[in-house]
Amino acid sequence: MPAPSALVPPASGPSPAGPVTPAHAPAAEGPLPGGTANRGLVVRAGHVVRRPLAPCSAATHALLAHLAAAGFGGAPRVLAADTATETLTYIDGWAAVPPLRDDMLSDGALVSVAELLRGYHRAVASFDPAGYRWPRRIPARFTTGLVSHNDVHPANVIFRDGRAVALIDFDLAGPGSAAWDLASAARHWCPLYDDHDVADPRQGQALRRFRLLLEAYGLARDLRREVAEAIVDNHDWSCAIITDAVRDGHPGFTDCWNSIGGVMVRARDWCERHRAALLAAAG
Ligand SMILES: Nc1ncnc2c1ncn2[C@@H]1O[C@H](COP(=O)(O)OP(=O)(O)OP(=O)(O)O)[C@@H](O)[C@H]1O
Ligand SMILES: [Mg+2]
Repeated sequence: MPAPSALVPPASGPSPAGPVTPAHAPAAEGPLPGGTANRGLVVRAGHVVRRPLAPCSAATHALLAHLAAAGFGGAPRVLAADTATETLTYIDGWAAVPPLRDDMLSDGALVSVAELLRGYHRAVASFDPAGYRWPRRIPARFTTGLVSHNDVHPANVIFRDGRAVALIDFDLAGPGSAAWDLASAARHWCPLYDDHDVADPRQGQALRRFRLLLEAYGLARDLRREVAEAIVDNHDWSCAIITDAVRDGHPGFTDCWNSIGGVMVRARDWCERHRAALLAAAG
């Protein structure tokens, strides 16, 4: 089942600082780190990535073909698919896999995530989702018809030179909205966690960074409020995917929940307690 790597803990200690060195680069061949749903099954072979087909791959492939035709460079291209596996272009750079590097924790990195999402939403706006089977529905209130990515987790964002340059893992994409994607991005990138669970320079900065994310995206004022109102629903939607998978015995999600379930419970509590503050920060 496709899933959000929605829940990865904040960096647990100091991130590697300084310029990227080849030691940090993903190996040119072999399994890639960062996945939960397909843990150990996403494999790089030079310029391509092979990963298991998801139940809604026909829709995802149509979406990725649309993005390619629209000239959007911030997503993988589908090179081939058989009954079990898809072959995608490998996107050079570094997925934001914990522990996050210092340059992924900066305000500039957050702004680049907003800009990447805005570019994606522009490119996807002309895509018609009708006639395809899509994954788990987004709450109707936050569905405009725009096909949102829906899993803007760090491990699904590729960085180069301190900037987010591509989204990967569109397994949860489906009819949603820009506000829903920004709620997902805010939760993971501000991040909207209990301060005790943020052990890096972003500690205590969540509300300021939430405002920055929305400003950098250039969201209209009424839609900013909608993002703030979507936060708790977005959290619950993501957690339900994980806890459903745990209930079904999925080993990757079981390990994930065992390690970060507590962080998630505290994050929800933080978001509940800060509803009014989030609305105020949204402006
Ligand atoms: N096209 C790509 N280009 C570069 N790296 C990639 C690409 N696809 C996957 N990766 C790397 O492989 C990791 C796992 O991939 P992916 O997100 O597809 O796995 P997953 O198990 O389906 O994830 P999730 O648990 O978020 O559903 C990513 O975090 C990234 O490091
Ligand atoms: Mg992923």
